[in-house]
Amino acid sequence: MAAGLRFDGRVVLVTGAGGGLGRAYALAFAERGASVVVNDLGGDFKGYGKSSSAADKVVSEIRAKGGKAVPNYDSVEDGEKLVKSALDAFGRIDIVINNAGILRDRSFVRISDEDWDIIHRIHLRGSFLVTRAAWNHMKNQKFGRIIMTSSAAGIYGNFGQANYSAAKLGLLGLSNTIAIEGRKYNIHCNTIAPTAGSRLTQTVMPQDLVDAFKPEYVAPLVLWLCHESCMENGSLFEVGAGWIGKLRWERSLGAIVRGKDQPMTPEAVRDKWEKVCDFNNASKPRSIQESISVLNDALSQIESQGSISMNSTNSRSMVSSAVDTTSLIGRKLTTHVYKYTHLEPILYALGVGMSTKDPDHMKFLFEGSEDFCCLPTFGVIPAQTSMFDGIPSIPGLDMDLAKMLHGEQYLELYKPLPTSGELTSVSTIADLLDKGSGAVLLIDVNTYCGKELVCYNQFTVFFVGAGGFGGKRTSEKAKVTVNPPKRPPDAVLSDVTTADQAALYRLSGDWNPLHLDPTFAALGGFQKPILHGLCTFGFAARNVLKEFANNDVTRFKAIKVRFAKPVFPGQTLQTEMWKEGNRIHFQTKVKETGDIAIAGGYVDITLDKPSSLKPTTGLQSDLVFEEIARRIKEIGHELVRKVNAVFQWNITKDGKTAVQWTIDLKNGSGTVYQGPARTSADTTFTLSDQDFMDVVQQKTNPQKAFFSGKLKVKGNIMLSQKLETILKDYAKL
Ligand code: NAI
Repeated sequence: MAAGLRFDGRVVLVTGAGGGLGRAYALAFAERGASVVVNDLGGDFKGYGKSSSAADKVVSEIRAKGGKAVPNYDSVEDGEKLVKSALDAFGRIDIVINNAGILRDRSFVRISDEDWDIIHRIHLRGSFLVTRAAWNHMKNQKFGRIIMTSSAAGIYGNFGQANYSAAKLGLLGLSNTIAIEGRKYNIHCNTIAPTAGSRLTQTVMPQDLVDAFKPEYVAPLVLWLCHESCMENGSLFEVGAGWIGKLRWERSLGAIVRGKDQPMTPEAVRDKWEKVCDFNNASKPRSIQESISVLNDALSQIESQGSISMNSTNSRSMVSSAVDTTSLIGRKLTTHVYKYTHLEPILYALGVGMSTKDPDHMKFLFEGSEDFCCLPTFGVIPAQTSMFDGIPSIPGLDMDLAKMLHGEQYLELYKPLPTSGELTSVSTIADLLDKGSGAVLLIDVNTYCGKELVCYNQFTVFFVGAGGFGGKRTSEKAKVTVNPPKRPPDAVLSDVTTADQAALYRLSGDWNPLHLDPTFAALGGFQKPILHGLCTFGFAARNVLKEFANNDVTRFKAIKVRFAKPVFPGQTLQTEMWKEGNRIHFQTKVKETGDIAIAGGYVDITLDKPSSLKPTTGLQSDLVFEEIARRIKEIGHELVRKVNAVFQWNITKDGKTAVQWTIDLKNGSGTVYQGPARTSADTTFTLSDQDFMDVVQQKTNPQKAFFSGKLKVKGNIMLSQKLETILKDYAKL
């Protein structure tokens, strides 16, 4: 009996297991301890006839080797019966290998209705019916592994196999969705496109190849994908001859082919064809969300034309051809020291509409208040100067500041901002994106009080007409907005801005004449000066702070917004808010027009007073996380560049989660905090306090802990390797 990956106690149903690949799977699973249902209808390769001998032969082979197997002679079109065989014989069903198949090859136009239908019935519908019959059993037991069998003919097309190609690629679509629906029940579904010598390939392959491409060179992949320790889900592999490769989608950067309020024409498509089909800097979308985000970007870019004077014939790339854009990424722009007294926070609070009429506002407006403090969004003020000073000096970038739009803003606070003092902001280029009609600069700004990081900003700045330099379209460094829930808001607060709102707000340091000078505003395509986006942002944020955090600035952790439409001073802002746990989603509308000025916004708050890093749980692992936190403060920036991932730890005691920790090496210069990941975790580890200590003290190695079930890993398991080296290198644990 083979050691290593075992399947003892698992029940596997292999369809079409009477020969070829299916037989190899059935034998391999049985050899490693599984109980196997050997299904085969026993017809010929075109699907004519039936016989029990094919399945019986393989069952005898398994039994002769001491394995457990039963035959099933039904067609996969009777999916329920196949699963019933497994339940009757072995009491459960864990793994389904959809493998049965036939061929009815004909050149396209000669395919009869019957040849089309039977191929779809056996391959696609059969796999659906068998899998559906097994689904609820897998769901209830919170374990299931499913394989769909596709084919290179489906992926690439093959002469004479139109019916088969269509059904085979249909299986990939089926698998993609099953993988999404099954994930939360630990049901994984993957697809293989095998090449192996069998009676199906005998007709098209020379005999020596049939002999060389053994089914035994495919089976190990199927076994690995079906093992309980394999986290692969929703993937596609080509496999044969002892080689395995993974496939994914690649998408060109594409091109926008219409202008705002302009018809879209076939001529415009033709003129942009080269760009549409250019795979330089292509993206690799992995989900429908990633896929669709590009359309949202396109829409907002098209919409933003005209809100600023834009003449596409004058547009030019912002990047000189001599510059390697990747060398700009991570480049430090400026270090700026911002000195302030209590005056600036008070001026800022007035700028975002605070008033002595509201007794709640006194602590932000009167330095003599016992609890005088800064509004959290004041954190953008020291950072913005550093950012604005830095942009014009980026070497190799030719930027027209008159075409600059502030697209999005993210701010994260690590501690309440001091009410006076000296803050040092360091800005770096996080990324440079080519959105076709425009270029986007992502600028990260870390703001320190002395050596301590107090806040992190990410500015997303859009340069209209400056795209087309062949850069990438999306960035994993970008903080993304999140749409609000589809229910009426939990709270709505309104503020009437004054005619002088922009005149007041600019005194906090954004002196752009666009917000005051009608002539300048007209140059930008606006009928009159517009309010600063960050002013509207300040209005919205203070409403969230009041409504959901009792004006307690220590509970305000992070905020993200997208500036969707301009606001004019004097208009009424209506902030709609939805509470979802620690996250308050919001959007701000202009009441007079119904336009959404801030879209996809959220504020993350702590529900109670923030938990400190000090050990509160009495667990040994607390000390380790404290040490990691200390190291990250020193070298976090470097680690974020190297690792770029968020790790969550569930530390258990007596079988229950006692504490959660998050090591964020993706955002800002990295942080460690108690509690679940505020953004989603890339990898989550669950293990006991003791096992955690054993791993970090290298008494146990993590792989061993994982395979023995002591360490459970969810998400991207490969990232944990990066973490391991980092912890070893830097934390000397
Ligand atoms: P095979 O003909 O040796 O095995 C298929 C088995 O499915 C046969 O034993 C057959 O009796 C059984 N079967 C057919 N209709 C059935 C039904 N309605 N219900 C139950 N069993 C049924 O062929 P091979 O090559 O092992 O193929 C296995 C799978 O791999 C098929 O889905 C095939 O399309 C796929 N495939 C194989 C490739 C290869 O290079 N061998 C290439 C690409 C895909």
